[in-house]
Amino acid sequence: MLPVLMLLICLAQTSTSSPVNLENNACSHLLDYRVKSISRNCYHNPDVGATTPEMIKRNGYGVESHDVTTDDGYILQIYRVISKQAGSNEKKQPVYLEHGILLDSDAWTFVGERSLAYSLVDDGYDVWLGNQRGTPYSRRHETLKTTDLEYWDYNLDTVAVYDISASLNKVANETGMEGSIIYIGHSRGTTLIFMYAAEYPEETERLLKGIIALSPIAFFNPKPYIEFLLTIGPSLGKSLKALGIRVFFQYPTILKQFLEFICPSFPYFCEFIVFLVSGKLPQFMPEDLLNFFSHFPTSWAVNQAIQYSQMNNADKFQKFDYGKTKNLEEYGQDTPPEYDLGKIKLPVYLLYGVNDIFITGKSVKRVYDQLGSEKKQILKIPVDNDKKEDQFNHNDFFYAKNITTFLYEEMSKIMKDNLQPNGQ
Ligand SMILES: *[C@@H]1O[C@H](CO)[C@@H](O)[C@H](O)[C@H]1NC(C)=O
Ligand SMILES: *[C@@H]1O[C@H](CO)[C@@H](O)[C@H](O)[C@H]1NC(C)=O
Repeated sequence: MLPVLMLLICLAQTSTSSPVNLENNACSHLLDYRVKSISRNCYHNPDVGATTPEMIKRNGYGVESHDVTTDDGYILQIYRVISKQAGSNEKKQPVYLEHGILLDSDAWTFVGERSLAYSLVDDGYDVWLGNQRGTPYSRRHETLKTTDLEYWDYNLDTVAVYDISASLNKVANETGMEGSIIYIGHSRGTTLIFMYAAEYPEETERLLKGIIALSPIAFFNPKPYIEFLLTIGPSLGKSLKALGIRVFFQYPTILKQFLEFICPSFPYFCEFIVFLVSGKLPQFMPEDLLNFFSHFPTSWAVNQAIQYSQMNNADKFQKFDYGKTKNLEEYGQDTPPEYDLGKIKLPVYLLYGVNDIFITGKSVKRVYDQLGSEKKQILKIPVDNDKKEDQFNHNDFFYAKNITTFLYEEMSKIMKDNLQPNGQ
């Protein structure tokens, strides 16, 4: 009698406490996605399709949202992750995280305990998550709408100068910790800080303690199919703009929903897409397949794709190339000026993986050699480990299976040994 009663109570509890839509959406083996609703290797992951604030709260942290208005009128939304002990971000060292292409602040919060944002908060930092203009969280503007072509008329130089500067100044202002902020960027997040720091070295030094660059991109050394895309990038971009297309994936939700719909039936095809945008996948967890495509891709301005292509084709870390006539107007010279990495004196740590599709140790070394920093270092992740199954690709820096031991422990050492806040 008692066991039956207990069973009834349990059933009653599960049926009342759980909302209806707890469909399985994460499977530990790719093939199980085809039978996900009945497979024992599948479960429901509530972070699939969730927003950054939803994920932060669900993982037991608090979240603040801050509006940042850039000097050219874009209104960005950046997030601050609050430690489990309420109100305890006071006097902690701020860390600012900046995401890469086709991503947004979700990149730092969508893999549960493996997410960098939570790891840093638990480690005692005051964590801020940037969202560049045009991403789903940062789509407001003082006068423009996202349906205006002009809204999307920005390149990498513009975002580096306006978004990065405005967001970092906001963090400095809110925390009162100017000069102690640690900047952690991934992919485009590294390109932007290199541009900003080379263009405004004094202001960057006033704000930051140092830079940790994950999958750093100033120079390319891409896999052949990426090289091909970058080679045709400028002319392809021009054609798209002639057709009135200024942005890839303007309505990313539609594409995400489509992928979430087809991936369960074609899990290997979807994994292949992850491979195409990341590199080899020994560290990718099958259970993140739908999760990944519920947060990727976000929108990407065509001008930025053109500029990256130009940088690759010219083999230079340079400003946007408008063509001779307009270059003369913009820059007073007929070729785009190069960014001088030698102007950057802040400590810079360059972390990369050998499975990256965009860069190699060689292109990272070029950044390293040109940096003016006294304190600088290159780390191949994982350090002192050449096992095939442990190597990182471009995006493993936010989703790798062993990210905590391979990456976060190294970053924690760097931050504790070399990037202590001022006055300590
Ligand atoms: C923050 O910004 C406000 C308004 O611009 C300014 O008055 C204030 O002094 C700033 N605070 C800090 C700590 O920089
Ligand atoms: C990597 O993660 C897997 C799964 O959590 C674990 O079994 C394995 O031991 C980890 N490898 C290393 C080198 O830490």
